[in-house]
Amino acid sequence: MNIELLKKKKRAIILAHYYTNPEIQEIADFTGDSLALAQKAKDTDADIIVFAGVHFMAETAKILNPTKKVLVPDFNAGCSLSDSCKASDLQEFKNLHPDHKVITYVNSSIEVKMISDIICTSSNAVKIVNSFPKDQKLIFAPDKNLGGYINKISGRDMLLWNGSCHVHNQLHTKNVLKLKLENPDAIVIAHPECQDVILQLADFIGSTLQMLNYTKTCAADKIIVATETGIIYQMQLASPHKQFFVVPADETCNCNDCPFMKMNTIENITRCLENESNELHLSDYQIQTAQIPLQRMLDLS
Ligand code: 13P
Ligand code: SF4
Repeated sequence: MNIELLKKKKRAIILAHYYTNPEIQEIADFTGDSLALAQKAKDTDADIIVFAGVHFMAETAKILNPTKKVLVPDFNAGCSLSDSCKASDLQEFKNLHPDHKVITYVNSSIEVKMISDIICTSSNAVKIVNSFPKDQKLIFAPDKNLGGYINKISGRDMLLWNGSCHVHNQLHTKNVLKLKLENPDAIVIAHPECQDVILQLADFIGSTLQMLNYTKTCAADKIIVATETGIIYQMQLASPHKQFFVVPADETCNCNDCPFMKMNTIENITRCLENESNELHLSDYQIQTAQIPLQRMLDLS
């Protein structure tokens, strides 16, 4: 059956992250950054949510709207950043620093969220960190790059978990500079999961949605984009007259395609919706515990 008919018949919606392939973004009912997708998942009255993103995003949708059936097109679609922080290791770290509160980036497992004080995304991280008194000691997990960026702009001294996203962490300054040299009138925008050396070259730093919005309103016609490639589709759609240059990871590959996001296909989305298969199950205890830090984030967003 055609995907549009299937969606109607099943009272389902498809949520897709900007890093999925363009054909997935086209069939989605809603595309967004992590925060917008979480808010949409919480507010939807559909019976089924098909989450075309990665595992932690589907988990977040289920935690925020537990009565819905959340379907995951491919359970192998994980996240290297989330994998860089095991709950047992974070618990040990917390035990060493009992006077610290834990702020956790949404790119994390439900087990990690369950032992966190509050969650943040790349679009609200600065606001969440600044909601704590200046003298409150903080741990930021799992992204050292995002945490380092916030430390720098907020003047804080948060303890950083040593995690990173393999896609953003491997972007090289030499490739940004090469594009800059070839296009001297271009501006640079970057996701805060990039290393500090890349962020120092950026004219604008923000979440995927914030970067997309920036490209719509900025005066520049040439824009160098330091993040995953999928977002270029929306940028080009919104500003067809502008030129976008994605920063390659190195000369030989296009490693800034997130392999996990690209696991979402029309075929596996259709299949899981048709059969109502690949349903994500979480225990009531997990949901209730992880809801607390997630709801704190939504209340501040
Ligand atoms: P955004 O919240 O900016 O969309 O980021 C999600 C992500 O996984 C970045 O790698
Ligand atoms: Fe995770 Fe990086 Fe992929 Fe984002 S781009 S989902 S942080 S692996």
